[in-house]
Amino acid sequence: MFKALNNCSFFNHLRRGRKKMAEKSKILIIGGTGYIGKFIVEAGAKSGHPTFLLVREATLSDPAKAPLIESFKKSGVTLIIGDLYDHASLVKAFKQVDVVISTVGHNQLGDQGKIIAAIKEAGNIKKFYPSEFGNDVDRTNAVEPAKTAFAIKAQIRRAIEAEGIPHTYVSSNCFAGYFLPTLAQPSGSAPPRDKVVILGDGNAKVVFNDEHDIGTYTIKTVDDPRTLNKIVYIKPPHNIYSFNELVALWEKKIGKTLEKVYLSEEQVLKNIQESPVPLNVVLSISHSIFVKGDQTNFEIKPSFGVEASELYPDVKYTTVDEYLSRFV
Ligand SMILES: NC(=O)c1ccc[n+]([C@@H]2O[C@H](COP(=O)([O-])OP(=O)(O)OC[C@H]3O[C@@H](n4cnc5c(N)ncnc54)[C@H](OP(=O)(O)O)[C@@H]3O)[C@@H](O)[C@H]2O)c1
Repeated sequence: MFKALNNCSFFNHLRRGRKKMAEKSKILIIGGTGYIGKFIVEAGAKSGHPTFLLVREATLSDPAKAPLIESFKKSGVTLIIGDLYDHASLVKAFKQVDVVISTVGHNQLGDQGKIIAAIKEAGNIKKFYPSEFGNDVDRTNAVEPAKTAFAIKAQIRRAIEAEGIPHTYVSSNCFAGYFLPTLAQPSGSAPPRDKVVILGDGNAKVVFNDEHDIGTYTIKTVDDPRTLNKIVYIKPPHNIYSFNELVALWEKKIGKTLEKVYLSEEQVLKNIQESPVPLNVVLSISHSIFVKGDQTNFEIKPSFGVEASELYPDVKYTTVDEYLSRFV
């Protein structure tokens, strides 16, 4: 009877399932309570990777973060208390996992050397993802202040490479939620219905990705050897639009033609110089994306990069067309 039970297909299924779980790398996210980090934590938990979140003690008792923390717990995420600025806490956390993904925000980007130092000490991390999730910072025509922000990310890349740490850099291009709900109008709160301001001639191609898809693609790369020491670009074909095409799509949806105000590059540069922080940061990133076309003005060569929707054609991503329909 015991033998029969042992051979029964139900138990074999369970064993196979457990083996599959064991094969998936354990992932720790630093910055998982942040804007993009939460989508990556969510995708990690959904995918069956044992998912861990490094979280500061103060954040755990922050009522504003309580619903998010609760939903992580419900999804089976393991919380580890720690801090980017507490070396021992990082080393202790890293020893429990295989892969570290950082999604720390703007102010902590330059301090990711602390993660590199802890990875070196822990000695067991199979792959590190620094906080990137935007333009490819090695291929940019950005002006200040974006230039310095991108240079900080590039310096972290060089430090990772100098230490020989296996890595993947995720270039996710524009977060849809940052740009599409206002059609990239800095002062808007909804997509414009009368007038739209277009930076440059509006012909540069730009990529907009739903944050859930950024999470999904990022997690898919974790155990994929094709992404080792590579830049993974998230550029699904239906999400690449020039600004003129984007406006035309919106006009079609609302059945109305908008007044278009084109700002020359010269005017955009002047506006950046005259704007206070943080508007000048936003404007200079927009200049790189919408005027210079920095998300699409280069070819992805196999020596340095791969494209996510080509690697994972099974992912049914949200298209820009579908995303914009929400605001009609
Ligand atoms: N492509 C785009 O359109 C786009 C747009 C915006 C940002 N980005 C990029 O996305 C990346 C993440 O930015 P974000 O805006 O998502 O970040 P964010 O919302 O500012 O989140 C930062 C995260 O870091 C955590 N953190 C801060 N200090 C920490 C510390 N000392 N120890 C441990 N954790 C700490 C925060 O935790 P608490 O919750 O405890 O504060 C939070 O979870 C950046 O590289 C940024 O450049 C891209």
